[in-house]
Amino acid sequence: MSKETPDGGWEPLRQAATVALTKAYAPYSNFPVGAAARLEDGSIVSGCNVENASYGLTLCAECTLVGAARMNGGGLITEFYCVDGSGAILMPCGRCRQLLFEFSTAATLVMTSSGAKTMDAILPDAFGPNNLQDANSPKYTENPKEQP
Ligand code: THU
Repeated sequence: MSKETPDGGWEPLRQAATVALTKAYAPYSNFPVGAAARLEDGSIVSGCNVENASYGLTLCAECTLVGAARMNGGGLITEFYCVDGSGAILMPCGRCRQLLFEFSTAATLVMTSSGAKTMDAILPDAFGPNNLQDANSPKYTENPKEQP
């Protein structure tokens, strides 16, 4: 059962996202973003947006966050918090909801301007790793949700 206030609270995530914000590289949009997530083991990972002169190749903060999560040993996300340059809570874009879903559970909470929500609330009926299992291919056995 998910809880509005997770173990450890939201404040460490807000703070980590705010620190990550200072690392953003956003000279084209002038819209820095910082994101932070708590993983199952209680560790906190963060990310910032990294833009590129070829605008469409921009990495959202969630992209660098999921990379950091993997580089820090992986694990699923229990809570996620994202801020814009003013420190206000920012909703993940559509693509990034998919990125987060890959490493989430039914209990994963995303902080929104209207309170904590489950991934299912922000990406209903999501396409995910389980949809690929019917493909019965060795390449699809690395479902992160089934890793120990
Ligand atoms: N951005 C993110 O980093 N995450 C989101 O979920 C929304 C958008 C970034 C991408 C771009 O660098 C800037 O915000 C403006 O779109």
